[in-house]
Amino acid sequence: MSDYQIKGFAAYKSTYQKSVKEPEAFWDEIASENFVWQKKWDTVLDWDFSKPEVKWFEGAQLNITENCIDRHLETRGDKTAILFEPNDPSEATQHITYNELSERVNRFANVLKSNGITKGDRVCIYLPMIPELAVSVLACARIGAIHSVVFAGFSSTALSTRINDSDCKMVITSDGSYRGEKTIDLKGIVDEALQECSVVETVLVAKRINSDIQMKEGRDKWLQLELGAASAFCKPEMMDAEDPLFILYTSGSTGMPKGMVHTTAGYMVYTAYTFSNVFQYQENDVYWCTADIGWITGHSYIVYGPLANGATTVIFEGTPSYPDCGRFWAIVEKHKVNQFYTAPTAIRALAKESLDNLEGYDLSSLKVLGTVGEPINEEAWHWYDENIGKKKCPIVDTWWQTETGGILISPIPNCTETKPTYATLPLPGTQPALFDENGVELEGNNLEGSLCIKYPWPSMARTIWGNHNRYRETYFSAFPGTYFTGDGALRDGDGFYRITGRVDDVIIVSGHNLGTAPIEDAINEHPLVAESAIVGFPHDIKGSALYGYVTLKEKALSRNPDDLRLEINQMIADLIGLIAKLDKIQFTNGLPKTRSGKIMRRILRKIACGEVDNLGDISTLLNPEVVEDIKENVI
Ligand code: PRX
Repeated sequence: MSDYQIKGFAAYKSTYQKSVKEPEAFWDEIASENFVWQKKWDTVLDWDFSKPEVKWFEGAQLNITENCIDRHLETRGDKTAILFEPNDPSEATQHITYNELSERVNRFANVLKSNGITKGDRVCIYLPMIPELAVSVLACARIGAIHSVVFAGFSSTALSTRINDSDCKMVITSDGSYRGEKTIDLKGIVDEALQECSVVETVLVAKRINSDIQMKEGRDKWLQLELGAASAFCKPEMMDAEDPLFILYTSGSTGMPKGMVHTTAGYMVYTAYTFSNVFQYQENDVYWCTADIGWITGHSYIVYGPLANGATTVIFEGTPSYPDCGRFWAIVEKHKVNQFYTAPTAIRALAKESLDNLEGYDLSSLKVLGTVGEPINEEAWHWYDENIGKKKCPIVDTWWQTETGGILISPIPNCTETKPTYATLPLPGTQPALFDENGVELEGNNLEGSLCIKYPWPSMARTIWGNHNRYRETYFSAFPGTYFTGDGALRDGDGFYRITGRVDDVIIVSGHNLGTAPIEDAINEHPLVAESAIVGFPHDIKGSALYGYVTLKEKALSRNPDDLRLEINQMIADLIGLIAKLDKIQFTNGLPKTRSGKIMRRILRKIACGEVDNLGDISTLLNPEVVEDIKENVI
């Protein structure tokens, strides 16, 4: 396997030190020795966080699919690249070899071309977790089209916003999707979204649930028919190192999602390197990440990272509770999964169920367990360690973000220690730092502050699509000269990092990043709502859940409050998606504001978390009287 895999603590130490002392030499060596390049780079790194501008491997030319597919064909052609496990356990698993994946990606790439897609065009992918999702991502990369995958749980409005923001010429979707016992009409959602999108010329529709859908003449085409007519080889487009590979939207503190732009060479090198190290993947291992490819975890650690290493990666279409809460473990046993990577919310949900769900499943193939997306609480960590890992599998609590492209802080199995609730140590190439609220870097250990990264790493997002200013403002202005993550963290006596949560207006619900502003905007669309504020409160499965304070217009007085609650949540589901629905809605006479009119979320957060006796000084508020009223009516 790859010779960039670290073995043992001493190797971690020396590798890390080299990556900090000589970052360019460090990445130069890794990139040279482990990938195929059409042309090598002229400079390893050129950067200036004040602009901000970051360029890795400038001058190099490559195609990421040659690295993820073609180069494996000689030695691993018959090896399973993708192991597809359908929603329905009685439907056969598909083993897609590297040879087959190559053919499917090449054909698909030719379909894109014959439908007028060329290098640099944006293609929106709105698909369930079926092989076509990974194949379409790779097909875009093959011809240099920029993919923008939108998680198939987003509503039609969220979809059209994303399609329009990056002017996608094509949408790839399916006739529907399976989710447990339900089916979802994805094509219907796309049709609705496209009423608001004028740039889309073609919709490719994969057949999955065989539902009776409308096909719009001249615009909609059945994917399978197109593939049948396409040739099985498509020459890979040669890309510059810094050509965009994809756009992936993430929530921000204003209504508009941020289209994070990831480029080609640095992203490839970093995701491949970290996949190999964090999961200690060995040649015949079966690796399974339960995330959806609609999120960054799926991009980096279902598709690109594993395939660049010639790994076998599982794609699971279903849910952890269908047909019962033993499904994950049935799949682990069936495919002898060696590395299992999931989210704390899934662990907490399964931990709540009876241990009978684990009964009879052989989990002895497991070697490494991973978590990602939100802080993992101590109880869930131990449940995972004891019941799934049988105390034999290191748990990698991987901290990273859509913006970072790859894992930055995480244990490395059998090299560095694990510690419950800690993401522990930075990976080679990552230089974390903590800052206090005055912008001063905190030196030493046993302290807490805002988590920043002081030096560029290869897979960092380079900009926000169409809005470089917002990129600078969001990530490089709070602590000039460093990248600000938006997270708080503490560093313990051993230098281990523990992520304490977001310090901005983003709330993580079941591992999904939700900006408060877009949700408030959605609520405020309701004709009877005057204003609203959203905060997070602790939830034993979701980690955090959403609490909404809503002030209604006078006209609403005659309405039944529970009906209004349903309507408000429906509004959110329509404009964003079900993931953003509120758990609690409290109607208020007003919201506490500063004299300059800013809503005091700090107070609202404390009330929602039950800390009503600890609100601090509220006398400087514009309207302190509303606080009493809110406290009395808290849900
Ligand atoms: O707050 C951190 C949290 O998730 C945020 C990033 O979310 P997203 O861009 O959706 O990417 C999630 C998958 C990489 C971070 O700013 N987060 C992610 N991983 C962890 C975490 N919080 C604590 N521990 C983690 N391991």
